[in-house]
Amino acid sequence: MKIAIPTESHDGERRVAASPDTVKAYVKKGLEVDVQAGAGTGSSISDDAFAAAGAKIVKEAGKDADIVLTVRRPSAKLLKAMKNGAILLGGLEPYGDKAGLEAIAKSGVTAFAMELMPRITRAQAMDILSSQANLAGYKAVIDAAAHYTRAFPMMMTAAGTVPPAKVFIMGVGVAGLQAIATARRLGAIVSATDVRKATEEQVKSLGAKFVFADVADAATSGGYAKELSAEDKAKQAALVAEHVKGQDIVITTALIPGRPAPVLITKEMVESMKPGSVIVDLAVERGGNCPLSRPDEVVVHNGVSIVGTVNLAGKLAGNASPLFAKNLANFLDLMVQKDGSFKIDEADECIKGTMIAKGGELVHAMFTGAK
Ligand code: NAI
Repeated sequence: MKIAIPTESHDGERRVAASPDTVKAYVKKGLEVDVQAGAGTGSSISDDAFAAAGAKIVKEAGKDADIVLTVRRPSAKLLKAMKNGAILLGGLEPYGDKAGLEAIAKSGVTAFAMELMPRITRAQAMDILSSQANLAGYKAVIDAAAHYTRAFPMMMTAAGTVPPAKVFIMGVGVAGLQAIATARRLGAIVSATDVRKATEEQVKSLGAKFVFADVADAATSGGYAKELSAEDKAKQAALVAEHVKGQDIVITTALIPGRPAPVLITKEMVESMKPGSVIVDLAVERGGNCPLSRPDEVVVHNGVSIVGTVNLAGKLAGNASPLFAKNLANFLDLMVQKDGSFKIDEADECIKGTMIAKGGELVHAMFTGAK
């Protein structure tokens, strides 16, 4: 059995779907591993490091492989070249762009979209959204600090006192929790909000203040949030509008799976903030939590910088790739048996939950309507 690790084809994507450690583990299981020359460069992993782990460095990886691992959707060229029935595993961006997903199905591969991993305890080690969001939350705060014209910690000097920055985190999932921890470490006064009531304790345990509008708990059984009712949206907007006025930094991370990101910071709210304040909108790729944010731009509105960097985890590829690679390796462990043979157990919740295409068709309940 051969696993292939192609170079990512998306512009600016620096991550790679394997690390020397995961390559070593695959080789130990008796699998052959092809890594495309230069695939690890953006993550500071050299071809030599992959070769030392047991990989064969090839000019083009994927067309003769049984399993192809990717960070993002593979190029149309690679999809066409892949063997019929080969396994494709990676971040396949399953929400929206049905035509792109149909192209994956039509190529005849058996495809697993890792974003759809169920939120069960056993699946934590396979959860690419968590491993990447954690880094994104950290980087959002670092980027906010870089754009802010003042300091984060309080400093008492002979020339006067520098006040601590006030940082507000909106959406306390994986990214938000890491953003709170990072901002606290930098000495900021931190507050945070979410629509899932369970987050209150987590926010407080990190030493931040919880800001909660009096809305119905929007947590789903899957651990995600659902959209608020119109009435609850209005309550949340009123509370946020009041709180945001006094903040120096706002980091928004609010997402609802399969839906556009909720608008949390309106243009009027931006205009209520002090010049020099910074908003980092982590939801920009899904429409944004602030309507003024633009993908990969820093928009300055009334002196407030709105940072819309996409793929923040990818900016930390040196950490993001090994974590992502390990998520994939843990998932493959479900299929690769001890004797090196291979079995796809479709009754397994993690396999069933992520399989989007097989035998030329889209097979996930998200597309077929089956429960
Ligand atoms: P996410 O990326 O889908 O959303 C980010 C945050 O935005 C969530 O906390 C969500 O409640 C919040 N949000 C949505 N609409 C909002 C609004 N209108 N206002 C304010 N906040 C809003 O969520 P993420 O980071 O993927 O994690 C969600 C939960 O799932 C967390 O509790 C996490 O611990 C849990 N989880 C469980 C895993 C497992 O058991 N295998 C793996 C990963 C996460």
